[in-house]
Amino acid sequence: MKDKPLGSVYLVGAGPGDPDLLTVKALRLISQCDALVYDALVPNEMLELVKKDCKCIFVGKRRGHHSTQQSTTNTLLLNLAKSLKSVVRLKGGDPFMFGRGGEEANYLQKYGVSVQVIPGITAGIAASAYFGIPLTHRLAGSSVTFVTGHEGINKKGFSVNWNGLAQSGNSLVIYMGVHNLNYIVKKLLTAGCSPNTPSAVIQQATVIGQRCLKTSLDRLVQDVEIRKFVSPSIIIIGEVVNFQIESIAPPLANVTMPILF
Ligand SMILES: C[S@@+](CC[C@H](N)C(=O)[O-])C[C@H]1O[C@@H](n2cnc3c(N)ncnc32)[C@H](O)[C@@H]1O
Repeated sequence: MKDKPLGSVYLVGAGPGDPDLLTVKALRLISQCDALVYDALVPNEMLELVKKDCKCIFVGKRRGHHSTQQSTTNTLLLNLAKSLKSVVRLKGGDPFMFGRGGEEANYLQKYGVSVQVIPGITAGIAASAYFGIPLTHRLAGSSVTFVTGHEGINKKGFSVNWNGLAQSGNSLVIYMGVHNLNYIVKKLLTAGCSPNTPSAVIQQATVIGQRCLKTSLDRLVQDVEIRKFVSPSIIIIGEVVNFQIESIAPPLANVTMPILF
């Protein structure tokens, strides 16, 4: 007897929280899929977009929940593709931006599963737009670096070159940086960044509950602690912060964005 053909897995970017920021293609796939496997940064309101008999499976890390191992998620996606036609793997922001989308796509392809990646608006882009900070500016920033503030403990052989970044004059957009902020700021200052370098933190970029702060690099750690900023937050460091255009932010979405660990 012939094996049942494998279904397709769509790695879909959920964007930065507001369902209105989903792409049209993402919305179509979410509303038609047979199973939806989702992350911690996907608000519950997006789960309401699925059809009635769609299986929704949570595989993220959230306060008060166990976190799912990457290998478990990979196997789950493969098993779903064996029995269902269309599986959406919904990831906060963009699947290929600090989202392990590459690892999942690789794994599935090895087993012959057809994979498509549907890009989403990444949090760094959304946070800067919603706080009115242009990430590039002819007078202040000709390049921009998206960087993680939290490197995997099992990672071998490479790490963020904070010295190089400090000297580059780039605008820095730091993901997952709140917990390691003390270390990051020390590295940047030691490598020669001016203590006055304008800096900003934006928590929960596009949804009600959004909080923002603007300060200087030497006060960043202290201000984040005093104001109790938590994850998910984006940190922007660079002269572009001084080019903030206040009052251009779109209205915030009335959805519940989870707080991470
Ligand atoms: C594992 S990374 C995933 C990034 C995601 N793939 C993206 O493209 O935005 C999680 C980090 O993204 C940032 N992040 C994600 N959503 C955010 C939001 N709505 N507001 C602020 N930061 C967010 C935070 O730095 C958070 O710690």
